[in-house]
Amino acid sequence: MPGCEGKSGLPDRRLPAAVRGFMEPEEGERLYELALEAGRRGPCLEIGGFCGKSTLYLGSGCRDAGGILYSIDHHRGSEEHQPGEEYFDPALWDPRLGRVNSFTEFIRTVERGGLTETVVPIVSASATAARSWATPLSLVLIDGGHSYAAAFADYNGWAGHLMPGGFLAIHDIFSNPEAGGQAPRQIYKLAAGSGLFRRLPMTGSLGVLQRRTIGEMPMEHRFV
Ligand SMILES: C[S@@+](CC[C@H](N)C(=O)[O-])C[C@H]1O[C@@H](n2cnc3c(N)ncnc32)[C@H](O)[C@@H]1O
Repeated sequence: MPGCEGKSGLPDRRLPAAVRGFMEPEEGERLYELALEAGRRGPCLEIGGFCGKSTLYLGSGCRDAGGILYSIDHHRGSEEHQPGEEYFDPALWDPRLGRVNSFTEFIRTVERGGLTETVVPIVSASATAARSWATPLSLVLIDGGHSYAAAFADYNGWAGHLMPGGFLAIHDIFSNPEAGGQAPRQIYKLAAGSGLFRRLPMTGSLGVLQRRTIGEMPMEHRFV
């Protein structure tokens, strides 16, 4: 895998292409641009680092902005990554631990991306990390568990920590249920309908919203 230690800008496309994961290049490049802007205002956070593909894009943007990225994942895989399920990958099975373990791959990606001074890994269930979190965030990417319970817990646990003007990105939003599960789309609709966020253009299956600034009025939600 080619390295990019010490470079700035978007990661060379060959680097994320060589990492296991679930993020299209255009979606990743949008994340880079968002992190470049958000990283100047405060820390960014992702839920679901997996093997580090999204981390490469977000982390590169944070690095170039002089910011940091918290990357949360229990590194045990989601439901669909478990043995016998659709996205089980035997290469991520750790026989010593007797479970899926994506942390070794994740940390290798962070090192190859030149991001060890930017990315702070948090090896934890998202809900556990959220319990006593108190730092305002400039960007949150939700790409963890895709059951409704998991996606809602991520939205509930993290969206409230976004500072005014902060970005909420939600991955894997599909309007056609045959293209993918509907939980990310459901929390996207919750956020969009809350009046607290402005919708920004989507990139592929990546939905992006921006927390309204103080005093900004959501005209489409106004009582008549
Ligand atoms: C779809 S993958 C993330 C893909 C990644 N963003 C990429 O770019 O390739 C989902 C990840 O979320 C993690 N995950 C699922 N439920 C979680 C939870 N409750 N807390 C923390 N991590 C979780 C899984 O371990 C898995 O690595």
